[in-house]
Amino acid sequence: MVADGLAGLIRTIPGYPKPGIQFRDITTLLLDPAGLSGSIDQLSAALADLKPDLIAGIEARGFIFGTGVAQALGCGLLLIRKKNKLPGAVLGVNYALEYGQDRIEMHADACPPGARVVIVDDLIATGGTAIATAQLLRQAGAEVAGAGFVIDLPDLGGAARLRAGGVRVQTLLE
Ligand code: PRP
Ligand code: HPA
Repeated sequence: MVADGLAGLIRTIPGYPKPGIQFRDITTLLLDPAGLSGSIDQLSAALADLKPDLIAGIEARGFIFGTGVAQALGCGLLLIRKKNKLPGAVLGVNYALEYGQDRIEMHADACPPGARVVIVDDLIATGGTAIATAQLLRQAGAEVAGAGFVIDLPDLGGAARLRAGGVRVQTLLE
């Protein structure tokens, strides 16, 4: 499936979670077998050149696409979780969302020093989550080899910000 076909499977819900936000909802893409496999195939193809050792999937929707990409590229999956979800010793970073504040964490020993890690999530908006993830991975000793997203909201500038921080960014749809 080409990216144009994927766009038709994403639904926009106005006013969620706050008035004024046009929420891009991927649950309809996930319900469609060709949408689910096509989005993961395209993201995997776009990221293969980066030759990752690990995929870092961001909770929660990044786990779905991150798992598929990791399997396609023969990598392990490193979980980037919201605060207080991981059982072992963690490293963490606070960050601002388009509509709030949060903290992400990873296991402090999840990443071998110098491992090439590629970040995967469903969507990049302001970039706050992905930039915090890159910061966290670098703190843990990783080389952030790149990042991939199904959806970019370019008006919010996140992909440009992430690129300005030295990360190679691939997106399927705007
Ligand atoms: C959404 C989305 C990204 C992030 C993008 O996740 O899945 O992770 O926001 O926004 P940003 O570029 O402005 O940081 P959310 O925090 O809503 O979590 P969820 O996947 O658990 O619903
Ligand atoms: N859709 C899904 N997740 C999001 C969005 C959106 O429009 N904005 C920030 N995170």
